[in-house]
Amino acid sequence: MGEGKPFFITTPIYYVNDRPHIGHAYTTLACDVLARFKRLEGFNVRFLTGTDEHGQKVEKSARAAGLAPGDFTDQVSQNFRDLAKTMGFSNDDFIRTTERRHILACQALWNELVQRDQIYLGRYAGWYSVRDEAFWGEDELSMGPDGGRLAPTGAAVEWVEEPSYFFRLSRWQEPLLRLYEARPDFIAPDSRRNEVISFVRMGLSDLSVSRTTFTWGVPVPGDAGHVMYVWLDALANYLTALGYPETGGVFARHWPADLHMVGKDIVRFHAVYWPAFLLAAGLAPPRRVFAHGWWTNEGQKISKSVGNVIDPLALVERYGLDPVRYFLLREVPFGNDGDFSHRVLVNRMNGELANEFGNLAQRTLSLIERQCAGRVPEPGDFLPEDETLLTAAHGLLERVRPVLDRQAFHEALDILWSVVRGSNGYIDRQAPWALRKTNPARMATVLYVLAETLRHLGLLMLPFVPGSAGRLLDQLAIAPAARTFAAVGPAGALSAGTPLPKPHGIFPRFTV
Ligand code: MSP
Repeated sequence: MGEGKPFFITTPIYYVNDRPHIGHAYTTLACDVLARFKRLEGFNVRFLTGTDEHGQKVEKSARAAGLAPGDFTDQVSQNFRDLAKTMGFSNDDFIRTTERRHILACQALWNELVQRDQIYLGRYAGWYSVRDEAFWGEDELSMGPDGGRLAPTGAAVEWVEEPSYFFRLSRWQEPLLRLYEARPDFIAPDSRRNEVISFVRMGLSDLSVSRTTFTWGVPVPGDAGHVMYVWLDALANYLTALGYPETGGVFARHWPADLHMVGKDIVRFHAVYWPAFLLAAGLAPPRRVFAHGWWTNEGQKISKSVGNVIDPLALVERYGLDPVRYFLLREVPFGNDGDFSHRVLVNRMNGELANEFGNLAQRTLSLIERQCAGRVPEPGDFLPEDETLLTAAHGLLERVRPVLDRQAFHEALDILWSVVRGSNGYIDRQAPWALRKTNPARMATVLYVLAETLRHLGLLMLPFVPGSAGRLLDQLAIAPAARTFAAVGPAGALSAGTPLPKPHGIFPRFTV
């Protein structure tokens, strides 16, 4: 595993001011599927997630909870680790920005920027939103109902005036525009790319990168009155996790990141500030930033004050993990906003997972159990209709790979379902149950073709629904070593005569 081509994928690190909700689960799930897929392809994957624990917002929440910030972040960060466990996430590391390795990495990055004359001391006078942890320009604000100014995100802003170190962001306007131009895939989807390009074209001012009015942050080296701006601190996590400031070994192998997955609200930080910091420090920018959309809940914006926050743990408890994973990636074209609805989830769970896929597996495996003495049947010559289905199954990987390389999860599932539906049509037309008496050799061939197709569906579904796909592969007696994409195609075909365990359903129906 350690030898393959490197692949480094990251989630945003989550603010610990809050309990995990569906938005957090969604971003990490998308990364989890890609990480699993790449591992099955033989890549040397590093999949990073974690928690963003500094800054005014977290400090404020700690105070509201009556706790010291360190105790508060210990508690809330644990909720995110628990979420990762419940959702079956396969991250290789979980970073907390309060860890020593991170504080050292941030300070090293800072020193590098200072040495390269990218940071200078000045004074900030402008607007800041604690909720967004962002500085906003006067021209970006609107007037709120009570006369206060609002950021484009709807968050209140406050006037801040304090000594501050600045990063020379203005110098990076042209290099950034050249980067976007030279690498059309750097920001996706296109709508976000256009948004970023027009923002940068409007001109970039130097960015305030330190604060003096609170202390919950990484101390600025050599100036104890300042803590680093939480976004500089947070973004640096992607370097910390690879061992920065050590730039050999893991770092050399895995940097630049292949993909930073983010929500659409934080694309500016990842596609403007972050590559500028990196270029300024003499480091390569990431290869790609993908910004996904936001979920609403039954048509309504999700917010704590409305009280309609969706708890992913409750969903998993109610529907089971794999149906939730499937629904989140199937329902909405990745990149678009989407609406969460229990009714639609249940429809997909019962219609697509239980009826279409689950029944196909159940029908095939129970016929093999009853009619073939529970062993993989011996196929005869394949007819054209057998070849059609097998070719579709063998071709799945080649079709799904490019689609996932552009993070189009819904399209990947569509492709898989074309073979699920193709198999259902095939089983109905071939009617193997009726062949037992008339042509048992043909029955064996048909069941073999179906089992081989299920093997491919099981392998390709592993990244999306690892538990259920794993159970399907168990029922086909696929050894752990054969659960890789190297086994796709005729080379990994089932051998006739292999005894199979007793079949049982893989996708239960949801009934109230
Ligand atoms: N701490 C920063 C990220 C720093 S990365 C160096 C942060 N954290 S967050 O906890 O507020 O948000 C994390 C992610 O959750 C974002 O990508 C955001 O888009 C996502 N979501 C928050 N609410 C969401 C929905 N309702 N729907 C989908 N994703 C949403 O930002």
